[in-house]
Amino acid sequence: MSKPLKLMVGNWKMHGDLSANAAFVAGLTAEVSELSCRAALCVPTVYLAQMQDLLAASPVELGAQDVSAHEAGAYTGEVSAQMLRDFSVRYAIVGHSERRLFHAETDALVAVKVQRALAVGITPIVCVGESLTEREAGQTEAVVKRQLAAVIQANGHCISEIVVAYEPVWAIGTGLTASPEQAQQVHAVLRTQLLAASSHADRVAVLYGGSMTPHNAADLLAQPDVDGGLIGGASLKAPDFLSLLKAASR
Ligand code: 13P
Repeated sequence: MSKPLKLMVGNWKMHGDLSANAAFVAGLTAEVSELSCRAALCVPTVYLAQMQDLLAASPVELGAQDVSAHEAGAYTGEVSAQMLRDFSVRYAIVGHSERRLFHAETDALVAVKVQRALAVGITPIVCVGESLTEREAGQTEAVVKRQLAAVIQANGHCISEIVVAYEPVWAIGTGLTASPEQAQQVHAVLRTQLLAASSHADRVAVLYGGSMTPHNAADLLAQPDVDGGLIGGASLKAPDFLSLLKAASR
């Protein structure tokens, strides 16, 4: 069986505006048809409608950055999985470290959000990763396994439908990148854990995130268990994102 195409996902975080988004997509779509990787952009919720239109004719899919743990109801400010589905959202980032940190999201809450996404056919991109303190204390493996175990436990055989992103917290937005060897080591741990949960889990893409750039992407993506990237800063400019897509298309 040939290896599935790499999956490159931009996480715009709280960046963008109507005119900049349109300019970005114009720059992207001029060249994107020639790529042989999978690609998606996770944009702020308010721009989903605009980006649904702009990306309609392109192979780049649409993603959200979060999803509510509730199906519907009196939850002011929340956006449900079903609502995201209305805008052709294909992926939703779940449990990003910025949400775990700034919004006190727990492993248990992340596991429920994964259920909500899967229930409507959205692929959750489940983020796991250790802090610098945890890495220095030798806890990297234990932390990422604990985070993924909660999701596996709550989602059973559906686990083969998720995407996992290993994002070491110390590498996010810092310019510090995990070395290809460091990334591969953790990805292999996650892969083993997934395969122990489901024999179909070999199809789960495990992405690397944390200061991935056009300069370091090729080496990271060359690792056997690095199936793509989750990219913040370098996904904000069309030429950079295009370079990353090209690096994944080798
Ligand atoms: P940077 O690529 O800006 O380090 O962000 C990574 C990230 O958090 C993607 O979700």
